[in-house]
Amino acid sequence: MPSPLLLFISLLSFLSLSSSQSPPPPRVNILLGILIDCGASRPYTINGREWLTDEGFTNRGANKNLTTQVLLRTLYTVRSFPLRSNNRTRKFCYSVPVFRGAKYLVRSTYFYGGVNGNGTSPPVFDQMVDGTLWSVVNTTDDYANGMYSYYEGVFLAQANRMSFCLGSNTYTKSDPFLSALEFLILGDSLYLSLDQFDRIWEPFGEYDPTKSDNTNLSVSGIWNLPPQKLFERELANGDPLVLKWPPAPLPNSEYYIALYFADDGGSSRVIDVSINGVPYFRNLNVRPVGEVVFTKRWPLGGVTNVTLTSTAGSSAGPLINGGEVFSLLPLGGRTRTSDVSVLKQLKSSFKKVPIDWSGDPCMPRQYSWTGITCSGGPHIRITSLNLTGMGLSGSLSSNISRLTGLTHIWLGSNNISGTIPDLGPLKMLRTLHLENNRLTGEIPSSLASLRGLREL
Ligand SMILES: *[C@@H]1O[C@H](CO)[C@@H](O)[C@H](O)[C@H]1NC(C)=O
Ligand SMILES: *[C@@H]1O[C@H](CO)[C@@H](O)[C@H](O)[C@H]1NC(C)=O
Ligand SMILES: *[C@@H]1O[C@H](CO)[C@@H](O)[C@H](O)[C@H]1NC(C)=O
Ligand SMILES: *[C@@H]1O[C@H](CO)[C@@H](O)[C@H](O)[C@H]1NC(C)=O
Ligand SMILES: *[C@@H]1O[C@H](CO)[C@@H](O)[C@H](O)[C@H]1NC(C)=O
Ligand SMILES: *[C@@H]1O[C@H](CO)[C@@H](O)[C@H](O)[C@H]1NC(C)=O
Ligand SMILES: *[C@@H]1O[C@H](CO)[C@@H](O)[C@H](O)[C@H]1NC(C)=O
Ligand SMILES: *[C@@H]1O[C@H](CO)[C@@H](O)[C@H](O)[C@H]1NC(C)=O
Ligand SMILES: *[C@@H]1O[C@H](CO)[C@@H](O)[C@H](O)[C@H]1NC(C)=O
Repeated sequence: MPSPLLLFISLLSFLSLSSSQSPPPPRVNILLGILIDCGASRPYTINGREWLTDEGFTNRGANKNLTTQVLLRTLYTVRSFPLRSNNRTRKFCYSVPVFRGAKYLVRSTYFYGGVNGNGTSPPVFDQMVDGTLWSVVNTTDDYANGMYSYYEGVFLAQANRMSFCLGSNTYTKSDPFLSALEFLILGDSLYLSLDQFDRIWEPFGEYDPTKSDNTNLSVSGIWNLPPQKLFERELANGDPLVLKWPPAPLPNSEYYIALYFADDGGSSRVIDVSINGVPYFRNLNVRPVGEVVFTKRWPLGGVTNVTLTSTAGSSAGPLINGGEVFSLLPLGGRTRTSDVSVLKQLKSSFKKVPIDWSGDPCMPRQYSWTGITCSGGPHIRITSLNLTGMGLSGSLSSNISRLTGLTHIWLGSNNISGTIPDLGPLKMLRTLHLENNRLTGEIPSSLASLRGLREL
């Protein structure tokens, strides 16, 4: 029986690493990373890879065990997050320690397993990394086919922690969930390190059983070092050979495409390649040394086809060994670091902050924290804090005076105790509401110097 292992596909989302020069990553070429088996009750090691529990990475959501039988241990459990209970969008985050300036391959894995009720279909929700909306997670088709789904993206660590969040949106009908999360540090050579991490190469279609396996190829010279196993099998049934690939429709974007070809010799094989009927590469001479044809910024959207046709002079039909397609995401931006650290202090001095207070406070914009309003533009700052009647207790950190972009502070009708801090440095403050709390002391005289203040 022919093995179905053939055209390998990896669908990667690449994040543009900002327009300015990024600092050089640490010279780490060994496998280093954090693997989280979401929902697991204890850590374990499989194939030398240590899988951790959610502990220390997130404190939201609940662990659930799948009731259906699955093969992969990482899929036995999920972390499940409550669907928004009002009409506000909500995000739930993991916070993962990283090396600032290093690139990470982030891989998120989902297998629904009916955790929101037997016979229900998987919820559709958003995933984001730091302030960047990464993609919609729609595992409907894979789940219907008994398969798990995964997403891979390359992201630059801009601080010493990175957040990965799920968000419920208008199309989310039941609780979002996550099966596994991997943060894998990449060395200088993206591709070399990707394959240290078992970049997932999915088989595509059935290979031609009349062709012998390629075993005598010399493909090591290919610049982005695809794994040798990629060239051991090829797809060669038809001339023209038309592939509906990638298997799922793509969101409209510009894509980087890499296609891999190698022949074990014996014939002169010359092919033309087109994508959706548009010529992509002409007169490609497929030789044992292997070829990769790589394009940047190719616009694609929806169902895509790749057509390979042998040229008039070719003595054999077309073949292909593998392909990759990936896109660049626009960077979402991030809230000014000093504002983020003050919000962290506020979060720890208050008790019972809203459940979505995790990840970036302002970004992505539709997932800003409850009660927080932010400025636009490239330097994102907190401009108002409105937690009126949110059931807060605890105290008000004096470091609130470092949120110098604040124009409104509305903290009325909570149960906040302690003293009112010096708000003198908040020169932009226009309204201040602290009524109906258990705050003691006078409104500090420093407030008299706030000329813009209109409402107390
Ligand atoms: C899931 O199963 C493990 C062991 O089988 C058990 O220890 C854990 O309590 C279960 N978790 C839930 C949420 O049922
Ligand atoms: C949510 O929004 C819908 C339509 O916009 C509305 O019908 C519904 O009452 C809202 N629910 C809540 C809890 O506010
Ligand atoms: C789903 O069905 C299985 C058996 O078919 C049962 O053990 C499990 O409790 C059910 N789960 C839910 C969430 O209803
Ligand atoms: C999710 O995918 C299914 C199957 O492709 C599709 O029918 C459905 O509309 C998608 N849902 C959303 C919200 O995009
Ligand atoms: C493999 O290729 C080398 C050099 O091209 C050749 O000398 C050798 O005979 C080939 N081996 C087989 C088994 O085809
Ligand atoms: C491939 O895509 C092109 C352009 O979208 C279309 O004209 C052509 O019919 C497609 N071919 C197949 C076999 O789907
Ligand atoms: C703060 O929130 C309260 C209650 O939701 C609302 O009435 C008030 O207008 C808000 N204040 C500002 C400045 O947005
Ligand atoms: C205020 O911020 C400083 C500097 O970040 C920090 O050392 C201090 O502990 C903070 N104070 C409070 C009350 O959080
Ligand atoms: C306010 O806090 C105090 C002490 O922390 C507590 O005894 C009281 O029940 C709280 N009141 C409300 C309305 O939550």
